[in-house]
Amino acid sequence: MRNWYFRLTFAFHHYARSLRRFVNLLRESGPRAAFRYVVAGIGEFRRRHNRALNAKRQVASRFDQQWGTDTSGHILASNLDLAGAHALDANSYLATTPEAFQSLITALEIDPADYAFVDFGSGKGRVVLLATEYPFKRITGIELSTSLHKIAEANLAKFQSPGKKCFAVEVLNRDALTHPLPADPTVIYLFNPFTDDKLYLALLANIERSLVETPRDIFIVYKHPDFRKSFDASTAFSVWRELDDAVIYRCVSALKTRPAI
Ligand SMILES: C[S@@+](CC[C@H](N)C(=O)[O-])C[C@H]1O[C@@H](n2cnc3c(N)ncnc32)[C@H](O)[C@@H]1O
Repeated sequence: MRNWYFRLTFAFHHYARSLRRFVNLLRESGPRAAFRYVVAGIGEFRRRHNRALNAKRQVASRFDQQWGTDTSGHILASNLDLAGAHALDANSYLATTPEAFQSLITALEIDPADYAFVDFGSGKGRVVLLATEYPFKRITGIELSTSLHKIAEANLAKFQSPGKKCFAVEVLNRDALTHPLPADPTVIYLFNPFTDDKLYLALLANIERSLVETPRDIFIVYKHPDFRKSFDASTAFSVWRELDDAVIYRCVSALKTRPAI
């Protein structure tokens, strides 16, 4: 019963928000921009539908076959057991591919041993597992859905890669917006966890506050950056690398000592 109620509320919230955006665009930027928004929306709907179909047909990914884990699939947010103030603004579950993750870490050009790593919206934990193959100081995955979090815990126990270089690893069943950042230099990973600007703004405000309290180097790796404009507008962060389907930001204080190339 709760599931149906959540799905209905979720769908209502989603379509009401899309309609609000359409009306705002029409009013502020004219019919062309509103039309482009509708076309982009139809494209996104088709992509989601296809991903969901693929996920249904899906055999476990190569990663899961290799390690006996369960990190694959595309699970719509309306089918997740989400609760709390930010449940309606959560994105669906889909894991980062190992190849994409490795190229993002390479693009950082850091020694991971100097950094903590946090995945906000860690889902079944694939990124947390992949990050253990780098010698980060510690790795944390934060996930709102209890069922995905439990799967991530089981995956962590199963993942026995001989390439493991970090053993201080935890996954927590929490809201990303309530989790304090580590005081170390940190790499923050976001694979599009939210569906609303206001949550990205709130997360960015938390990060900026933490940076003022404890000045240090912070990277934000934002994969599939649908809501990048909040980050682009930040005065505390600047673009470090533009990649295919991702953007990496670095705090401005660190960029002053090591400018981006
Ligand atoms: C696209 S998946 C990314 C999974 C993982 N980071 C990866 O790249 O493989 C986004 C995840 O964010 C989670 N999420 C959404 N809102 C959240 C919130 N407020 N706090 C924590 N997790 C959240 C969703 O449940 C979903 O599992």
